[in-house]
Amino acid sequence: MKIKYANFTISSPDVSKCPDPIIPEYAFIGRSNVGKSSLINMLTGRKKLAKISSTPGKTMLINHFKINEEWYLVDLPGYGFAKRSKTERVKWEKMIKKYILNRTNMLTLFLLIDIRIEPQQIDLDFMDWLGISEIPFVITFTKADKLKPLQVEKNLKTYNDKLLEKWTELPSTIVTSATTGSGKEDVLNFIEKTNKIF
Ligand code: GTP
Ligand code: MG
Repeated sequence: MKIKYANFTISSPDVSKCPDPIIPEYAFIGRSNVGKSSLINMLTGRKKLAKISSTPGKTMLINHFKINEEWYLVDLPGYGFAKRSKTERVKWEKMIKKYILNRTNMLTLFLLIDIRIEPQQIDLDFMDWLGISEIPFVITFTKADKLKPLQVEKNLKTYNDKLLEKWTELPSTIVTSATTGSGKEDVLNFIEKTNKIF
């Protein structure tokens, strides 16, 4: 699939303020700084579409971008940002869970994980919650350009082994780099295929 048009639609503080759920959408979530906005820019070929933050965890808004007038990409605020207060963390969790559980047109959640670091409890816990809630997700590894290919393979295996301690079936995974553009086709093909079932 080629992305011809990509436009910012709206930033919403709550799922109830999001655009009408009449076309499919795909949301990007993960720890603060993992590369959600960078991946959206890489996919759309627009360097400044989603804001790359130098101060992570600043805003808590749901950002919609309309693609080819047919579907939305959604940039969600990150989690696990250490400097956030307890009150803010609770607010984040409420807002995100409400969005994920109620957004009827959200077909798949791309859960971003930094390929360089070992499995983090916060991500594993979030995946458990997605599993229990029956939310389809794809593990999307980011920053693959920062490792040698062999190390990428090694880290993937470590991650899968960790997941298999709990999951009987492994979730789909895609390896990406916003810097080199690797994984772009994988993500877009997945979306193209999934759009057809909406
Ligand atoms: P929040 O919105 O704060 O939650 O962060 P985010 O997940 O949107 O991350 P963002 O896209 O702002 O990227 C964070 C930092 O990682 C930036 O300095 C990016 O340039 C860098 N980065 C993101 N993706 C990649 C990648 O694939 N490769 C490399 N080398 N750097 C990346
Ligand atoms: Mg961001």
